[in-house]
Amino acid sequence: MSINNQTLEKLAGLAMSGSSPSAGLPDAGLLRQWASQLFAAMPNQSASLEPVQYAPQLSGAGLPALPGVDSGALSALARRSFTNPNDIGLAPWPVPSAGSGESAAPVNYYFVSELAKHAADPSLAPAEFDVQRVRRDFPILQERVNGYPLAWLDNAATTQKPLAVIDRISEFYKHENSNIHRAAHELAARATDAYEHARDVVARFLNASSSNEIIFVRGSTEGINLVAKSWGKQNIGAGDEIVISWLEHHANIVPWQQLAAETGAVLRVIPVDDHGQVILAEFQKLLNPRTKLVSFTHVSNALGTITPAHEMIEMAHRAGARVLLDAAQSVSHIRVDVQSLNPDWLVFSGHKIFGPTGIGVVYGKFDLLEETQPWQGGGNMIEDVTFEHTRYQPAPAKFEAGTGNIADAVGLGAALEYLSGLGIERVAYYEHELLHYGTHVLQGIPGVRLIGTAPDKTSVLSFVLAGYSPLEVGTALNEAGIAVRAGHHCAQPILRRFGLESTVRPSLAFYNTYEEIDRLGGVIKRLQCQKRYF
Ligand code: ALA
Repeated sequence: MSINNQTLEKLAGLAMSGSSPSAGLPDAGLLRQWASQLFAAMPNQSASLEPVQYAPQLSGAGLPALPGVDSGALSALARRSFTNPNDIGLAPWPVPSAGSGESAAPVNYYFVSELAKHAADPSLAPAEFDVQRVRRDFPILQERVNGYPLAWLDNAATTQKPLAVIDRISEFYKHENSNIHRAAHELAARATDAYEHARDVVARFLNASSSNEIIFVRGSTEGINLVAKSWGKQNIGAGDEIVISWLEHHANIVPWQQLAAETGAVLRVIPVDDHGQVILAEFQKLLNPRTKLVSFTHVSNALGTITPAHEMIEMAHRAGARVLLDAAQSVSHIRVDVQSLNPDWLVFSGHKIFGPTGIGVVYGKFDLLEETQPWQGGGNMIEDVTFEHTRYQPAPAKFEAGTGNIADAVGLGAALEYLSGLGIERVAYYEHELLHYGTHVLQGIPGVRLIGTAPDKTSVLSFVLAGYSPLEVGTALNEAGIAVRAGHHCAQPILRRFGLESTVRPSLAFYNTYEEIDRLGGVIKRLQCQKRYF
C-alpha cells in the first residue's frame, strides 16, 4: 500500500501531539512502518486516512505502538480531531458563524506544522509551497458565500486573478493606455512596449523559438477557429481526414465539423478506454496518407486526463499530418514546452491561467504561419493597401486584424510572470498531491462514481453521486460556499462515452487546500447519508 505525503504529515502531526514535549520527532521510516501497521489493522481503510473510518478504530484496542508516543493520548487526540465539526465524517453539519468577518474554518485541522513537514520522507516531499501565502495574492479568495469562506473549485471553467494581474491592468489604464503600432506619441510607445513585452513573456513561457510565433486572440476557441478557417480552408479538401479525440471540448469539435461540411473532408475520432485515456493503438489505425490534421487536447477539461501528447504528435507527424494541440487545460498545471512537444500550433486561454478573459494565444511554427493566408482582414495586419491589392504584414501581425485586446494581453503577461515566479513544477507537484488526496476522499464515499480515472491526470475530479443529479450536488455545494461546475462541461461526447449527460466537476488550482477538499467531501458525505437514511 502506498502512503502519500499528506497522510504521513497527518500521522506525524498526530504522533507529535500525542507525544511528550521532550520526545523527538518520529523518524520518517518508522512513521511509514507504523502507518502500514495501522492500515493493516483496519480492513477497508484507504491509504489516504479517511477520518470517518479512522476515528472509531483508533480509539479501540490494537492501535500499533509508536515509540515515544503515548497511545492513550494519541487515540484521545484522534477522536477529538476527527470529530471536528468541519470533518468529513458524520459529525454535525457546520453552522456558519454569525459575524461576516469571522472565519468558520477550523484551525490547524491538518496538522501541517513545521514538525509534521520534517517527518515526511524528504525524498518525497514537495518543494516548499506555502499555499496560505499564495492565497493572499488572490483577493477574491477572501469572499464568503452563504456564510462560508469561498472554496473556488471551478478552475477548469475559469481561474481567479492575483493582485499582480489586477494591478497590472489598472496600471495600464492609468499610465499607458493607447492604441498600438500606430502613432508617434509617448503613450502609443508605452502601450506598444507593454503589448510586445507580453508577447515575449508568452514566447518564453512556452519556450517558442521566437515571439513572432505568438498570435494574440480572444481565447482557445478563437485560436482553433483561426487555424480551421485559415490553414484548414486553404489546405484541407474533399476526402482528406481530420482526426480529433473523444476527449475534446466542443471548441475542438465544431470548427472541424464545419470545415468538413464545407470541404467534404472526413472527421475521425480516437476512442478512449474506460479510464478516459486515448487508445494509442486505435489512433495509429486512424492515421493514413489522407490524414491532414490531428487536433487534440493536452488535458481533458471534463476528466482531467493528460494525453500522451509527445507520442501522439510524433505519430501524427510520421503519418505526414499537421498537429494542433489544445493546451487550454494544461498550461496552468504542467510544463508546456512547444519545442519539446513539437506541435504545429498550440492554443490556450488567458482566463484559465490566472489572466483576464477575452485574451488567448495561438502559437504557430513561424514558417507555417508565413505560408498561411490570414482569416480576417482590416487594420493593423496590413503593410500596404490599394483598391487593387493589399500586402500583409508578416506573422504574427497579419493574424491580428483590428485593435486587439491590448490591456488584457498585458494582464496575461503579468499572469504568466506570476506563475513562473511560483514555479510551474512546484505548482504541478502540489496540485498532484491535492488531486491524489481528493481522489481518495471521494472514492471513499459510497455512491460516488469517479468519471475519468486515467493514471495520468491533473486537476479535475469529475464524479456523479447515486441518488442525486449533478445539479442537486452542485447546489448543495454552493450552499456550503463551494463552487464547482455541474453540467456537461462543453464536452458532451466524452460524458456520453461514460453513459452520462452531466457530472459534478470540482477542478483544482494551486491556491486550493486540503481543507477545501475536506469540506467538499463533507457535503458529499452528508448528501449520501441523507439519501441512505431519510
Ligand atoms: N471550457 C470551460 C469548462 O471546461 C468553460 O468549464
